[in-house]
Amino acid sequence: MVDWLMLCLYYPGTTLGLTAFVTYIVYYFTNAVKRPLFACRNSAWRLFLEENLTVLQEKYWPTPWCIDTHLQTFFASVSRAFIRPIDYKREVLRLKDGGEVALDWLEASERRANPVAVVLPGLTGASDSVYVIGMVMSLHKMGISCAVLNSRGTGGMELKTTRTYCAANSDDLEEALDHVAVTRPGAPVMAVGISLGGLIIGHYLTTRKEAAAKKLVAAAVQSVPWNLVQGIRYIERPGLSLLFNQYLAYCLKGLVRLHRYQLEGDHLLDIKEVLESITVRQFDTRFTAKQFGFDDAEHYYQASTLYHKLDYIKVPFLCLNSGDDIFQPLEDNPFGAASKSSHVALVVTVRGGHIGFMEGLWPAKSYYSERLLTQLVVSIFSNLEAMKSIQKEADDYAKAVEVACGNA
Ligand SMILES: *[C@@H]1O[C@H](CO)[C@@H](O)[C@H](O)[C@H]1NC(C)=O
Repeated sequence: MVDWLMLCLYYPGTTLGLTAFVTYIVYYFTNAVKRPLFACRNSAWRLFLEENLTVLQEKYWPTPWCIDTHLQTFFASVSRAFIRPIDYKREVLRLKDGGEVALDWLEASERRANPVAVVLPGLTGASDSVYVIGMVMSLHKMGISCAVLNSRGTGGMELKTTRTYCAANSDDLEEALDHVAVTRPGAPVMAVGISLGGLIIGHYLTTRKEAAAKKLVAAAVQSVPWNLVQGIRYIERPGLSLLFNQYLAYCLKGLVRLHRYQLEGDHLLDIKEVLESITVRQFDTRFTAKQFGFDDAEHYYQASTLYHKLDYIKVPFLCLNSGDDIFQPLEDNPFGAASKSSHVALVVTVRGGHIGFMEGLWPAKSYYSERLLTQLVVSIFSNLEAMKSIQKEADDYAKAVEVACGNA
């Protein structure tokens, strides 16, 4: 006691530093290290996830010096700045309307029927984005063939028509999945989406329903804002969120600048005005909404919102989100709907940021999200028989909901 007092008197700085350090450690262990929340009804899918996903039983240990949501979001890409690029095999897919997308393949086997994960990157991302490389490498190591779907005009692709891509349209994904089904008969396929890629998968599942269930064994998404209307408002709050918003708008404008010549051909667009956008909302009002026939950005966000559409999903589905995602407050995760659904499961960690999920002292190798989703994908592809009864349950559930809503 006396020693402590002496220390305080003679070395006030050291004492203050030590106290702050200890307080932080206590805070870290009590507030940041937690098991994720898990929502899904008692069902075959839940049982499957509980039995197979050992990662779900663990606590998520966010990188101790980096538990803040903005730091997680920022450093998740910075700490991988020097990640080795993947030497993909590019397959260019000509779409019905003359547009082009690229499927970038990293095969894990010569077998045409080897399981395939179709990976969809986030907004302005592509197969060379560090978080996509991380996910693909993690899946590939476990024997899964990966095909990254680069949207029109991304990943070094030329823009062949004036049309780009958005969260409320999954026509291109549908064509890509049809193509994979035709060229790889017998190969089980899963869709894995990150952020905007997850929204596009959500749009595909909720609009194509049974047709989607024929194409996909299951689907998994990460860092998806379930309520895009709220999500965009959330990144309009002043401070770092707004800064992030403006950074995204900057990246979006970069794509427009890159394809300016082609886009000038769309008489609905005022490219000069588009390039003056400061925020994502301005950009979406002047560009995305015009391209896809919405009145304004808000209308587009409403059409992209999945929050109230879970019951239309007919495919076993898992979504990993972080409770501190800058795109969505914890309570905007549809816990209620997921707890009722037989086959939509929600995993929400307390920390993790947007496409963050770093873990360990110096995170570079593998992130929590990649461990969890890889374990999920591998479990699904190694239990295809069990997946059949889960799919049946999903189908029965969706039918029962339709009857209850009087749509049958
Ligand atoms: C995964 O789940 C299936 C179906 O519930 C089960 O048969 C299998 O034993 C599980 N695998 C492991 C490793 O627990």
